[in-house]
Amino acid sequence: MKSVLSERITSHQPDIETRELDHDAAAALRTLAADIRHRLGDAAHTDTLHDPALLAQIADRVGELPDSVRRAVAPPATASGAAVVRGLRVDADFGATPADWQDAARHTHPGSFELDIAMLLLARCAGEPFGWQGQQNGRLVNNIVPAAGHEHEQSGASSATLLSPHTEDAFHADRANLLMLICLRNPDRVATTVSSVRQVRLSDEDLRTLTTPTLPILPDVSYGTGFTQHAPLPTLWFDENDCATTRYDPAYTPLDDADATFRIAYARLTAELARVCHAPALAPGEILLVDNDVAVHGRVPFRARYDGTDRWLKRVNIRLPERRRRAQEAAENGYGQRVVAPFRATADRTAERGRADERGSVEQP
Ligand SMILES: [Fe+2]
Repeated sequence: MKSVLSERITSHQPDIETRELDHDAAAALRTLAADIRHRLGDAAHTDTLHDPALLAQIADRVGELPDSVRRAVAPPATASGAAVVRGLRVDADFGATPADWQDAARHTHPGSFELDIAMLLLARCAGEPFGWQGQQNGRLVNNIVPAAGHEHEQSGASSATLLSPHTEDAFHADRANLLMLICLRNPDRVATTVSSVRQVRLSDEDLRTLTTPTLPILPDVSYGTGFTQHAPLPTLWFDENDCATTRYDPAYTPLDDADATFRIAYARLTAELARVCHAPALAPGEILLVDNDVAVHGRVPFRARYDGTDRWLKRVNIRLPERRRRAQEAAENGYGQRVVAPFRATADRTAERGRADERGSVEQP
């Protein structure tokens, strides 16, 4: 897979969707984020971003943003399942690239915190931003930086290895519908990879194999290790609009436990995902939206410097309340991992209370 993907990313893929956040919209977003930061002060709000005063500011004031902001961060509209949004300048000082996610949360530079606020506002325009209790201490905006000692992991802290294409949190029924990534710094133009299952070509036989629940998907290493395998999942299925949808994470799928027919079909899907791969090298201020039901994402290898100038992205998980998942997913226990979902709508929460409790949804505040 690595060689196929490496070949593919050298070619230009013109059909990924691009959008522009116009000057007035970007200015409105920056001004509102700065105002919220100044009202709150910096110290007490940066660790997890769960502070009720901060969440209230996001919820109460997101409506002040112009509609053009909402249009810019709407879910990707094309079969590529991804969109790059340009126009949000990040020329403010946000400090050196942190050593790891803990450092980023403990010593948040005011400029970085202001960008956290801007990301929460953008994510709230798109849907319901949420975090995971077991990942980065539940922080609602994750910092993605290379961390010493993690170079070869299959996680966002890695660098020297290809981060294999994957569905974010594929192991869990509450995984994001939409991922929002913003680039703060990317001096070596390291490419993020995005591949859509709606652009792959597979035989009917392979589709039958891959839509049959066969193997479980385990939590990635950022949640810990030693998990016991649970029920098998389909790799692909078709949603209510008959569109292909996926949960795909080969690094955390015990492929050796499947028979040859499944392994071959899975390998053909992997090759197809490499064939249709887009590889945007995000520039500072560019935002990548990934439809996590449709597209898998990864990252090419790079050499980390650990000198404060390394690649630095921020990521927000977003639930789209209007989107439905397979009914069978309601029975999954998610390996005990729980979401922190402060923006879950009240009406929606009432309708889903039994299911949410069963799956461990945590609503704060
Ligand atoms: Fe990821």
